[in-house]
Amino acid sequence: MKPLVVANWKCNPTTLDEAREILNGVKEGMREIEKVEAIICPPFLYLPYWVEFFSKKEKKIKLGAQDCFWEEKGAFTGEISPKQLLNFGCEYVIIGHSERRRYFGETDKMINKKIKAVITTKLKPILCIGESEKERKKGKTFEILKRQLENDLKDLSPNTHNLKSLIVAYEPVWAIGTGNACNPKEAKEVLIFLKKFTHQLINSPAQYNSEGIYSGSTNQLLYGGSVNSENAKDYIEAGFDGLLVGGASLNAEEFIKLVRSVELFFKIC
Ligand code: PGA
Repeated sequence: MKPLVVANWKCNPTTLDEAREILNGVKEGMREIEKVEAIICPPFLYLPYWVEFFSKKEKKIKLGAQDCFWEEKGAFTGEISPKQLLNFGCEYVIIGHSERRRYFGETDKMINKKIKAVITTKLKPILCIGESEKERKKGKTFEILKRQLENDLKDLSPNTHNLKSLIVAYEPVWAIGTGNACNPKEAKEVLIFLKKFTHQLINSPAQYNSEGIYSGSTNQLLYGGSVNSENAKDYIEAGFDGLLVGGASLNAEEFIKLVRSVELFFKIC
């Protein structure tokens, strides 16, 4: 499976011209990339401008959204449904980002509803989980991640849902936008825990590799939090299947440098 590099643009940039400029730079840079898939998640409003490009020609770059609602349609002012996203060539959608949990009061219950809604469509959910600084300092990281996964994936099983497309992103809250990325060794410990626990929880098919890490699971696990072109490969080396990138994805040159470093690491291995 190709490593994924997901660009979470958040509420950026301010103008469509700037958005086009970033996308054009990424398109150009991705021409020479063979072994990495880039997923661009712009604000909803920019999606219609790229529907043509993403739905027909583009193979190396995919389109994603940063959130969606759990209902298909109806009187829910301001919301956007998974089915509506499919009209615009979206293949992925980020769910439960810590900024949505923190600033918009998203609970695990709401996130669970969103995952259930998304999983019944062709969209692939990228579920974000992560502990706060306080929780980490108290040694509660695994406990928090376990609780988030149990609640966010409640009542989901391979018997009732197609869970193959579920992607989980470990994003320690304290590492997001701070320049203080998680030490790759510590991230690897979390990865080992997540691989086992996700596998148990949703009973996904998995195998062990020589290091005792579950591999071959269809559920990809990403790392996110202050990833840049310097540290990106460290997380791939640690065993993550990809990265969720915020700040560094807003500069096409830096983003492509990051993607290239992942590809280079992959080619060497
Ligand atoms: P960052 O954001 O790369 O700017 O830390 C990551 C994210 O929020 O997904």
